[in-house]
Amino acid sequence: MSSKVISDVREYEEKAAARIPDSDRPLFHLSSRIGWMNDPNGFSKYNGVYHLFYQYYPFTNQWGPMHWGHAVSKNLLQWQYLPVALAPDTEADFGGCFSGSAIETDDGKHLLLYTGVKTTDIIGQFIQQQCVAVGDGLDYEKYEGNPVIDISDLPEGFSKYDFRDPKIFRENDGTYACVVAACDQENDGKILYFRSEDGFKWNFVSVLAENNHRFGTMWECPDFFELDGRYVLLTSPMNMRYVADKYSPGNGTLCLIGSFDKRNVKFTEESDQAIDYGIDFYATQTLLTEDGRRIMIGWMQNWDSIAFGNKLKPWFGQMTLPRELHIRNGLLCQEPVREIETLRNGMAVYENVRFNGSIRLHGIVGRTVDIEITVKPAKAKPFNEFSIRFAENEDVFTSLTYNRKKSEIAFNRKNSGATSDVVHTRRLRIPTKNGELKVRLILDRYSVECFINDGEQTLTSVLYTEADATGFSFHSDGEVLMDVVKYDLGFR
Ligand code: FRU
Repeated sequence: MSSKVISDVREYEEKAAARIPDSDRPLFHLSSRIGWMNDPNGFSKYNGVYHLFYQYYPFTNQWGPMHWGHAVSKNLLQWQYLPVALAPDTEADFGGCFSGSAIETDDGKHLLLYTGVKTTDIIGQFIQQQCVAVGDGLDYEKYEGNPVIDISDLPEGFSKYDFRDPKIFRENDGTYACVVAACDQENDGKILYFRSEDGFKWNFVSVLAENNHRFGTMWECPDFFELDGRYVLLTSPMNMRYVADKYSPGNGTLCLIGSFDKRNVKFTEESDQAIDYGIDFYATQTLLTEDGRRIMIGWMQNWDSIAFGNKLKPWFGQMTLPRELHIRNGLLCQEPVREIETLRNGMAVYENVRFNGSIRLHGIVGRTVDIEITVKPAKAKPFNEFSIRFAENEDVFTSLTYNRKKSEIAFNRKNSGATSDVVHTRRLRIPTKNGELKVRLILDRYSVECFINDGEQTLTSVLYTEADATGFSFHSDGEVLMDVVKYDLGFR
């Protein structure tokens, strides 16, 4: 451990975090150890455990000069905090250690590739460049040759102030490669591709993909991989415009599916979709497990909604559940990692419940639950609107409403105890499946993740509802047939 800065931060975070009881955090989602958290970084497996770093400002629950927080897990659900891994303490990253990724090197080290922000020429402007730190899974030493990719490696006409978030991976022959977010002088997002033999000396290869002013402006946090025989580019565009049934305005997420021309190192997209349709989702990163699963995690928050809940707790920011990715019928589909099944206990099952009006079901309660609800319209007097209310007590609830004729789902957390008027509702169109709907909700105290029709669409949102609001109720304006399978989730 080299820097005095980092040992001071380590001392601080350990003391400050000790004051937060476990019961005041999500159970199986990673939350900031203390202070502020944004993007997931360095999501990787190293020395037999999963490592997850995150954009971190330990001293307040607002964004500040970025550090890398650190946690490890054996099962992707039960996380153990490790001491902060990076702090802005060198000339190359004095303005912050921004997002990046991690990989195991040939000689068994853990290599972090991240964006160093360097204070610069114009007031309020910061040059961004890519830096390396190498470690043993606990302590990381910054490379003295940093930056390893700097603005002189950028092609003509690219902005030196928006060049960040390298995602490292290996090509089939073992060569290191990374994709980095960049943009041109017109603020149009581009994804650049670099290669390296050793992880330290990098060469620019190509512009892998370009926005061409279609999806927002700068594209942040790119990731690029093969999935089910296709190629996928994930990114989080800034300043998206509203497109009915597809994209919400603001900071969004984008999944492009297409093909990869390996010779010219060019990606050609064939389809586009949002990654998630909820309120709190941004900045995804994936890893490939030893058993071949592509697993994605995201920041369960969004820059547009951070005013909500910001001041309530000494920690701010959570990660989503790690999700298994697949392409089905040309669409990116997501399911919670299967490891979540090991947390299940206390099962409650209802089949073919027929009702019209409002009901509650015995045993269907909780705020750390995995629940799947399937509904179909009865032949006579079929419903048009069906609603699930959860995280409910006498005063508050959050709801998901299915409008069968419109084939639409509306999410609403307005009445969840919110005291900030940020966006609290979302609507999304779903494919018509004979009027049937299957939805799986994972609640973990301060969040809900909705997996619709086996993860064809997802909708993610944080909640700050009081912990004792554990109720569920079901409402329908006509005859509905409903199945419910619910598990409580917990560690043994
Ligand atoms: C995305 C992002 C990244 C950047 C980081 C800074 O949320 O803006 O582009 O590296 O956050 O914290």
